[in-house]
Amino acid sequence: MDAMDTGPRYTPDHELEMAVQFLPASDSKKLEKRKGLGKLTIVLSAVAFAFILSLIIGLLLWHYHLRGEANIKKIYAGSMRLTNQAFVNGYENPNSTEFKDLASQVVSQLNEIYYKEPKLRKNYISSTVQAFSEGSVIAYYLSEFHVPEKDQVEVDRIISSIDKLQGRTGSSSRLLIDAINYSALDSRMVSSTKQSTRYAQHLQPNVASVIESPGFPNYPYPSNTMVQWELRADPGYIIKLEFESFSLEENCKNDFVKVYDSLVAIESRVLNEICGVFSDHLTFHSSGNVMLVTLVTNDVMNFPGFRARATQVPLSTTTCGGILTGNSGTFTSPKYPDFYPQLTQCEWTIRVPQGKFVKVVFDKFRMVEPGQSNSVCQKDYVEIGTRKMCGTSSNLMEASQSNEMTVKFISDSSYVDRGFSATYTAYEPSDPCPLMFLCANKRCIKPVQKCDGWNDCGDSSDEKNCQCGATQVSCKNGFCKPMFWKCDGINDCGDNTDEENCGVCKPDEFTCANDHCVSMKMRCDGQNDCDDGSDEATCGKEAIDVPCTDKTYKCKNNKCVNSLNPECDGVKDCSDGSDEQNCDCGKQYTKSAGRIVGGQDAVDGEWPWQVSLQVRGSHVCGASIISDSWIVTAAHCVQDDTKTRYSQPQTWEAYFGLHTQKDKSKAEKRNLKQVIAHPSYNTYTFDYDMALMELDRPLTFGNKIRPICLPSPSYSFPAGKSVWITGWGATKEGGFAATVLQKAEVRLINETVCNNLMNGLLTSRMMCAGVLTGGVDACQGDSGGPLNSLNAPGGHTFLAGVVSWGDGCARRNKPGIYTTVSKFRGWIKERTGV
Ligand code: ARG
Repeated sequence: MDAMDTGPRYTPDHELEMAVQFLPASDSKKLEKRKGLGKLTIVLSAVAFAFILSLIIGLLLWHYHLRGEANIKKIYAGSMRLTNQAFVNGYENPNSTEFKDLASQVVSQLNEIYYKEPKLRKNYISSTVQAFSEGSVIAYYLSEFHVPEKDQVEVDRIISSIDKLQGRTGSSSRLLIDAINYSALDSRMVSSTKQSTRYAQHLQPNVASVIESPGFPNYPYPSNTMVQWELRADPGYIIKLEFESFSLEENCKNDFVKVYDSLVAIESRVLNEICGVFSDHLTFHSSGNVMLVTLVTNDVMNFPGFRARATQVPLSTTTCGGILTGNSGTFTSPKYPDFYPQLTQCEWTIRVPQGKFVKVVFDKFRMVEPGQSNSVCQKDYVEIGTRKMCGTSSNLMEASQSNEMTVKFISDSSYVDRGFSATYTAYEPSDPCPLMFLCANKRCIKPVQKCDGWNDCGDSSDEKNCQCGATQVSCKNGFCKPMFWKCDGINDCGDNTDEENCGVCKPDEFTCANDHCVSMKMRCDGQNDCDDGSDEATCGKEAIDVPCTDKTYKCKNNKCVNSLNPECDGVKDCSDGSDEQNCDCGKQYTKSAGRIVGGQDAVDGEWPWQVSLQVRGSHVCGASIISDSWIVTAAHCVQDDTKTRYSQPQTWEAYFGLHTQKDKSKAEKRNLKQVIAHPSYNTYTFDYDMALMELDRPLTFGNKIRPICLPSPSYSFPAGKSVWITGWGATKEGGFAATVLQKAEVRLINETVCNNLMNGLLTSRMMCAGVLTGGVDACQGDSGGPLNSLNAPGGHTFLAGVVSWGDGCARRNKPGIYTTVSKFRGWIKERTGV
């Protein structure tokens, strides 16, 4: 028996009313028939008996029900158009009589709809109208249900087809409704423990409204909070929301912002869910005159938050598509690089001169949407001929077999993204790539790019049928990959050939951090088989205490844990919690999604620990802040020469929070109290290339001046990991220094491989990072600056290395060499106390 069908349930308001009415009604007849004192006693006892009996039955059923299954609170967000209503100003104000009046009509209509369906009636609690907007009138509401687990799917299904139900409400209803939209509220928003705030704002013409997360920019946003901003524009306008600053936790499961094309959080109207850190274009447009912005946070880790500007802009139908002619040209998705609007359909016809064919290369391509399969592309996509493309890619290209090509772009009603930017060119069918290599997909690449181990064509056709050279690994699948990448922990071949026979352990064995070999089966089995716990270190389980080695992390209480890089990862691994202490470091409060040679301009404030060390007003070296009074640089920066006494503190000026060298007045300046070069620094080999500098006056930290985290001696930076280099050094070998701080992404390179490439000049205090094809590297003037390594779980940046030396700059197969900071952790502590 289904307990839900018979018994009174636990305290839903409307049911309580039904129960209260039911009992006296059945007894009242008897009451009226029986008169006199004796009768009254009988009647009273009967009533009491009936009351007690029903109480017992109720309690039993309630008990039975509770034992049977727990109800889950589900809230559905919905909107519907009231076609026979006209919008009046009072509908914007929930306290007005007009609002209350219409809201109660909507609620009773909803009640009517839900009561028609037994599965809904039984689980329905109540509905509240959240807002109205124009057109005729659109009502936005939340309906609460308490649904037993087993009925969830069914209730979801009924709710999603609710517009069929409403047809059954009959003519008695005064509101004529259509265009019903429904979805279960994002479960992260259904929490009674979250502090919830709602703001409503009607935007003014020509005035931008600023919306900010609570505390921004002075404090991180609060924990366990939900804030909603209901934004409206005048009819005939849409809302443009531009995020000027955005810094949330990296993991959307914890904290996120969701933007809706609605006034309630209907999932089919989400424009996007965002988290992490952005500083480049992050702009959304509504399709109508309303928008909802929500911020939801949980109890772990709070970030600075965001500031956004909302403006109302005239609704102009987005024009896109058209006829493109000539030999070449570019086109983009609507509003690129802003997010494209929802429900877009564009069609471009590209027509090149007779006799030539068309090819289209997508330089940027991003249409990512939850629930969309990149092979089917049923939501937002680009369509050329029969091929549909979606997701994200940096190498997309299509070619035609005639002088015409049609490109379509489609977006649906939810989740928008950046879209694409594309170039089309006409090509000669007989000679598609004059003097270049022709890929199977008709892309043209430089002849040297053929068989260099990189998929330059995008379809790998440049890497097929290659004769591998002496400096290449022959992959079993026929590819050749540069020797450079052998045993770097990354499967470059695709079939893992480049990662075979790398260690002492057999293929079915796990290589422990102490180089012991244990069977793969022993990984994550809860036993410390390696002796150093490394076989249990990355299993997502609790840390275990292990004997201390140079590969294990040592807690403050001198106990060692087996966790890999436990410091500041947001999880307490040491029993004394010391791995999560002193973690106010390495946080980037400004970052772009996205000279140093081959780099790009950093965003102002993106690398707040970066220091510019200057002599007589000119930049000489980089350095990194490690505390309010100490910075780390390279020892080779502080060696005297015939002209300058670089080893003396008074020679230097240090600039903090500097972005462009042209604007030093905006930066903080300090003189130095001491310069400590490592005593073992070797001018010939660059071994021990590290120096410490003490400032004459402590720094005050803010968003643009902050320390980087120092890695413990056991911190592991695996080969293949992507890291960032930053500095104002030369932007090409022998070139000039950069004005604006540059950043570039490089990968850590396996020690043995690197030592071979650098002719054996590496010592155990050096590490290598670079890009094997060349073109990206640190260069003169970057020395002393940071090699930045982000520890993803905690979102903290660690100082992996200090820019030290290289063979020229950015040459092919010549990585940059960095001083390994973890090797100097003890020395730094000893000399600075940090
Ligand atoms: N020694 C150089 C300096 O003083 C930095 C060289 C880094 N070179 C390189 N190719 N990564 O600025």
